[in-house]
Amino acid sequence: MVKINNNYDKLGAGYLFPEIARRTKLFLANNPQAKVMRLGIGNTTEALTPTIIDGLKTGVANLSDIKTYSGYGDEQGNTRLREALANHFSKKGIQLQTNEIFVSDGAKSDSANIQSIFGFGVVAVQDPSYPVYVDTNVIAGRTEEYDESSGQYKNILYMPCVAENGFFPEVPKGKVDLIYLCSPNNPTGAVATKEQLKGFVDYAIENKAVLIFDSAYASFVSDSNLPTSIYEIPRAKECAIEIGSFSKSAGFTGVRLGYTIVPMDLVVEDTVAGKVNSLWNRRQTTFFNGASNIAQMGGIAALSEEGLKESQEIIDYYMENARIIKKCIESIGLKAYGGVNAPYIWLATPNNMSSWDFFDKLLNETHVVGTPGIGFGPNGEGYFRLSAFGHRDDIKQAVESIVNNLKI
Ligand code: MLT
Repeated sequence: MVKINNNYDKLGAGYLFPEIARRTKLFLANNPQAKVMRLGIGNTTEALTPTIIDGLKTGVANLSDIKTYSGYGDEQGNTRLREALANHFSKKGIQLQTNEIFVSDGAKSDSANIQSIFGFGVVAVQDPSYPVYVDTNVIAGRTEEYDESSGQYKNILYMPCVAENGFFPEVPKGKVDLIYLCSPNNPTGAVATKEQLKGFVDYAIENKAVLIFDSAYASFVSDSNLPTSIYEIPRAKECAIEIGSFSKSAGFTGVRLGYTIVPMDLVVEDTVAGKVNSLWNRRQTTFFNGASNIAQMGGIAALSEEGLKESQEIIDYYMENARIIKKCIESIGLKAYGGVNAPYIWLATPNNMSSWDFFDKLLNETHVVGTPGIGFGPNGEGYFRLSAFGHRDDIKQAVESIVNNLKI
């Protein structure tokens, strides 16, 4: 008899964002006249830039002509796009070979799938963190049951990211195998310094651990002293995989395009150099037929000089939203973090209120939707995330409603 993968039964509630959508829908059903302002999921709202649109149109035009039509492409990605990515990294002083770069349909899939090329061991995550890291390891069977009292899965090391440590963890005291780091961080908006990342690279090399570095929000860093890639740290290629995205940097949340870098130098368990790279290649060529050829043409355009310049204007626009939101939160006497080199504002809920209670209060009193911190891990309790992705008018209305209607 076929059996289900009952690791799914270990998962606590549903995935965070559908749960937010469910509660919002219920609120709207009960309050049909209300206009809800969504600062919950980090979903881009501004139109794609002209250069990117031209790139996408070229992709479509190519398909319309027998001379330029293409079917399946390389599973690893369009060579021109991989070269453009290598060139993009070389501007940061990071040299990558194109066969170290794997193009995908987005960073979410890659951050979910990457664990599958590793054996079972102890996984460490920042707490709070993007739920995909934990949930996919649960589904893969790397954890034991969920422990209600601690809010943790056994066999996962939760590295606390709290106000006291600037929302970036110490390296683990004991030995772990796979470590997920996200900087600029979703959800806290904190950005790790080079010294902090060096601590993890040193730890990983010494303990033969692998870092999975999620840099989906790298383009929101404006402080030139802060790293935007793990490979800015010496020897990181020996221990780190980096996952990047076009979603937030170029507005591709709906277009879908991302990439993963698996350096040839990455060595695990005394295997030969290139082995991890070849495993990811094997995984992708078996499970994936490559990103859309249209999206990849858009990606090439996004990485052109003009494309980057145009996208920067949109990033600046979202960061101005972040500034407006943060100022509002501070003006009502709440403590707000992030929002300077990242598009998320992480606020401490008033009067130690639970983050789901604050979600309901904010929605009911102000009609603003945010994301409860507990959805990102136990140390997210007592915190709440507001996203800076939105039209300026909506952000202004949301802020005004918070200032006028939230009863603290
Ligand atoms: C978020 O809101 O955390 C992200 O938009 C979710 C995602 O990128 O999948």
